[in-house]
Amino acid sequence: MQARRIDQILSNLGYCSRSEARAWLKAGRVMVSGVPAQSPDEKADPTLMIVDGEPVEHPHGILAVIHKPAGFVCSHDRNEGPTIYELLPERWSQRNPSITTIGRLDKDATGVLLVSDDGELVHRWTSPKHKVSKIYEVTVNQDLQPRLTSLFASGELLLDGEDKPCVPAKLEIISAREARLELTEGRYHQVKRMFSNQGFDVLRLHRSRFGDFELGDLLPGQLRLLPINLFQ
Ligand code: URA
Repeated sequence: MQARRIDQILSNLGYCSRSEARAWLKAGRVMVSGVPAQSPDEKADPTLMIVDGEPVEHPHGILAVIHKPAGFVCSHDRNEGPTIYELLPERWSQRNPSITTIGRLDKDATGVLLVSDDGELVHRWTSPKHKVSKIYEVTVNQDLQPRLTSLFASGELLLDGEDKPCVPAKLEIISAREARLELTEGRYHQVKRMFSNQGFDVLRLHRSRFGDFELGDLLPGQLRLLPINLFQ
């Protein structure tokens, strides 16, 4: 990996501020290629650095899947309630570039949520151009009707306040009030608005898949790291 200033690496990866780096080095907490680092302006390859006896964390960046529990918001604003960022390791909140969610789930929604600090990857996975498939399991407040399947697939469903209809979506009715919906776009509150447009309230919303990613055995609140170079 490209060598960078040690104080910059420590601060970008969330260990300490650039001004604190000198004290960390003085205390012998940082080694480079097995030798104690001497000066914060020395350049080093982050993959060869040891801090407090451990290799530096995620020098190539972070991509992770979280099982989002209900009651957490995909926002940095704590006024809206507990945030999904509180579910991440403390040090991740100090990283620069910062970690953000790849798309959002509503506060009451659960399921697959990706987070990353790779801006390009976040852009690629949220851009409508890339048509990333998302699968939602939905429970509604009254019996579903087969006509919804053809309406959602038609590419003609126009949501309130929008001038372009939703792109075709695949609705599979599972039981009287439960369905699976596959979307390739991600408009604001899209699932709830598609159903409410037809007179249904969504009582439960769970995303079971985002692109190729599923929860596997993750419990609510748990996360799994994914290789950051997965899509490069
Ligand atoms: N659609 C919604 O209405 N809410 C979500 O959280 C995700 C998709």
